[in-house]
Amino acid sequence: MSQYADWFYLIAAILFILALRGLSSPLGARQGNLYGMIGMAISIVITYLMTPNAANFLLFGALIAGGAIGAYRAKTVEMTQMPETVAMMHSLVGLAAVLIAVAAIFHEGVQHDGIHRFELFLGCFIGAITFTASVVAYLKLAGKAGSKPLKGNWVKPLQAGLALVMIGFGTHYFITENITSFLAMTAVALVLGYFLIAPIGGGDMPVVVSMLNSYSGWAAAGIGFTLNNSVLIICGSLVGSSGAILSYIMCKAMNRSLLNVIFGGMGTGAEAGPAAGSGVQKNYKSGSPDDAAFLMSNADSVVIVPGYGLAVARAQHALQEFASLLAEKGVKVRYAIHPVAGRMPGHMNVLLAEAEVPYENVLEMEEINSDFATTDVVLIIGANDVVNPAAKNDPASPIYGMPILEANKARTILVVKRSMATGYAGLDNDLFYMDKSMMIFGDAKKVVEDMIKGLH
Ligand code: TAP
Repeated sequence: MSQYADWFYLIAAILFILALRGLSSPLGARQGNLYGMIGMAISIVITYLMTPNAANFLLFGALIAGGAIGAYRAKTVEMTQMPETVAMMHSLVGLAAVLIAVAAIFHEGVQHDGIHRFELFLGCFIGAITFTASVVAYLKLAGKAGSKPLKGNWVKPLQAGLALVMIGFGTHYFITENITSFLAMTAVALVLGYFLIAPIGGGDMPVVVSMLNSYSGWAAAGIGFTLNNSVLIICGSLVGSSGAILSYIMCKAMNRSLLNVIFGGMGTGAEAGPAAGSGVQKNYKSGSPDDAAFLMSNADSVVIVPGYGLAVARAQHALQEFASLLAEKGVKVRYAIHPVAGRMPGHMNVLLAEAEVPYENVLEMEEINSDFATTDVVLIIGANDVVNPAAKNDPASPIYGMPILEANKARTILVVKRSMATGYAGLDNDLFYMDKSMMIFGDAKKVVEDMIKGLH
C-alpha cells in the first residue's frame, strides 16, 4: 500500500488546490468545497490504511468522535457564529501541533537530527502561539471576553521579551536536545499567544482570524514534517499561504499594516467608545417602514448596504423580495459590500447568494464608492462600523484609516437597526445624526417585511 500512498496524496493535494481556486469566487464555491471534501476523504482513508495495526483502533475511535462532533457543530452553528467557530478550529490545529511535537520528543529510541529538531522547534512554537491566540480570539468573538484591547507601554516590550526568551529556549534545545528547554519554549509560546491577541481591538479581529488561519496552516505543515506525511505538509502550506494572502487583502481593506497584525499591535491607538463630543445629546430623526418604502419607491436609484444585523435577523430573503419589488417599479437597486461587513470575510456575499441576489447587482466597495454621491437613497440595514465617517475624518478614532462605504454622500440615508447602540467596534456613528438621515428602528427582518407591505 505504502508505495501507492504518495500518488493518492498527490491527487488529494491537487484537489485541495482546485478547492482553493473554486472558493475564490461565489460561482465556483460549491464545486471548490466538493473538491476539498473529496481531497480530505482521500487523505483520511489513505492515512488510516497506512497506520500500523496497533494504532488503528485508536485512530478509528478518534475519527468517529471527531466526525460526530464536527457534524453536530456544522448542523447547529448559526451563520453569525462562524468566526468564533473558525477560531476554535484553529486552536485545535495549534493544540494538535504541540501535542504531536511533544509526543515526538518523548518518543523513546528516536534520534532527532538537526533538521528534525528544527522542524519540531518551529512547528511546536507556531502551534502553541496559534492555540492560545485562537482561544483568546474565540472568547472575544463569542462575546465571552471583552473586545477591549489590552493597553499600556509595557505590552510591546513584554511581547518582544517573551519572543526572545522563547527563541532562546528553542535554540538551547536545538543545540543540546535538552527536553526541559523544549518544554520551557512551549510554555513561553503559549503565554506569547495570549499577549499577541489581547492587545488587539474588536474592530481589527477579522484580520486576526485570517492571520490565525495562516498560523494554523504553518503549524499543520510543521506536524507534516514531524510525521513525515506529505499531504499534511502540502495542505498545511496551502492553508498557511492562502491565509497570509487573505490577511494581506484584509489589511489593505482596513488600511492596516500586516506587520502590526503579526506583532499584535492593532487597534490600540485610541479607546473604543463613543465618538468625541458624544456626551452632548445629539438629535436624530426616525421614521416608519412605510415612510422608508415611500421614499425608495419614488427614487431613481437605491443602494443597499447590508451588515451584521442583517445576518442576525436573517432578513436577506425578505430584502431580496423588497429589492425585486422596487426594481419592478423601475428603481435601480444595487448592493454595496464592505470587505469586513459582518463577522467574517465574505459574510455578506454568502448571505446574498443564499437569497439568490443576482451577482451583477452586488458591488464591492471600490466599485460603488464613487456612485454614492449620485445615489438618491442609501438603505443601511444592520450595518454600522462599515459606514462610520469617523474612519475618514477623526484621527483619534480606533478605526481611523479604515476605508468605508461612503454612504454619507448619498442624497437620503435610511438606517435600519434596533436602537442607537454602537456596532462591533463600540463607536458612535455621526452618520445617524446627519440632517438627511432617518432611523427606522426595529428588527431588520420585521422592518423589511413591513416595507414590503408599504410598497403594495
Ligand atoms: P456592526 O458595526 O457590528 O453593526 C451592526 C449593527 O447591526 C449594530 O449597530 C446593531 O445595532 C445592528 N443590529 C444587530 N442586530 C440587529 C437586528 N436583529 N436587526 C437590525 N439591526 C441589528 O456591523 P458591520 O457594519 O457589518 O461592521 C462589521 C464590524 O465587525 C466591523 O467593525 C468589523 O471590523 C467587525 N468584524 C468583522 C469581521 C469580518 S471578517 N467581516 C469579523 C469580526 C469582526 P442595534 O443593536 O441598535 O440593532
